[in-house]
Amino acid sequence: MRLSAKEKQQIRRVVVYPIEQNDFYNMTLISDLKWRHAVKAYDPSKKVSTEDIEKIIEATRLAPTSSGLQPFKLVVVSNQALKEQMVPGSLNPDCMRDCSHILVFAAWDQYTDERIDEVYDRTTDQRGLPRGRFSRYTDMLKESFGRQTTAQHFAHISKQTYIALGFALAQAAELRISSTPAEGYDNELIDDVLNLKEQGLRSVALLYLGYANEEKDWLAQMKKVRAPKEDFVVEYK
Ligand SMILES: Cc1cc2nc3c(=O)[nH]c(=O)nc-3n(C[C@H](O)[C@H](O)[C@H](O)COP(=O)(O)O)c2cc1C
Repeated sequence: MRLSAKEKQQIRRVVVYPIEQNDFYNMTLISDLKWRHAVKAYDPSKKVSTEDIEKIIEATRLAPTSSGLQPFKLVVVSNQALKEQMVPGSLNPDCMRDCSHILVFAAWDQYTDERIDEVYDRTTDQRGLPRGRFSRYTDMLKESFGRQTTAQHFAHISKQTYIALGFALAQAAELRISSTPAEGYDNELIDDVLNLKEQGLRSVALLYLGYANEEKDWLAQMKKVRAPKEDFVVEYK
């Protein structure tokens, strides 16, 4: 049965807007995002379970990236001795020391033809397609990145990591796990401790995960402040 345009529009309305306006802010993702804040102090005695860490890793892995290249790795640090070595490089040393896990978003140091081929060979292999099926596209990518500097590569790659950081923040919030995104750290020191250079990687951002120390986390009691919607949204109707 073919539906008329009017019928399709009616169905869309039912499917897309089935909820009352007042329920909008009770939707899970919005309430999760309202719950979270950038935690300033952690309880060192409370550790995030392996199951929950796996969920956060999976949300991060599922983040979309430009051309699907996933040009970064996620380094997961829970080893206390390693954390202690990293502490002098953090702007939030107590968070780094007392949190349960640190996720390090570690970008490829540059795009290379080999790295692009590796990703697209995996894609064709997993989809049961012949290797080279996307060669016109990958040739275009290689040509385009070939004209850029490594600094331009790194800037582009860094942007991809922030999407994944957002997904990790949202997944942690859904699990009611405290978190702090952090760019405030000494990249050289952290990269050195984690041997990132040797792996062709450079850290972009960190995410501290754990359970807040409710007495010391001074931000917990403060109102969440965001630009008012009227200033934030530029709408053309
Ligand atoms: C990319 C990024 C880097 C950040 N770096 C730090 C940091 O180094 N230290 C810190 O305490 N907070 C850091 N923050 C937290 C922000 O200050 C915080 O997210 C912002 O003020 C909004 O507050 P809320 O997250 O509590 O809602 C960072 C946030 C983002 C998204």
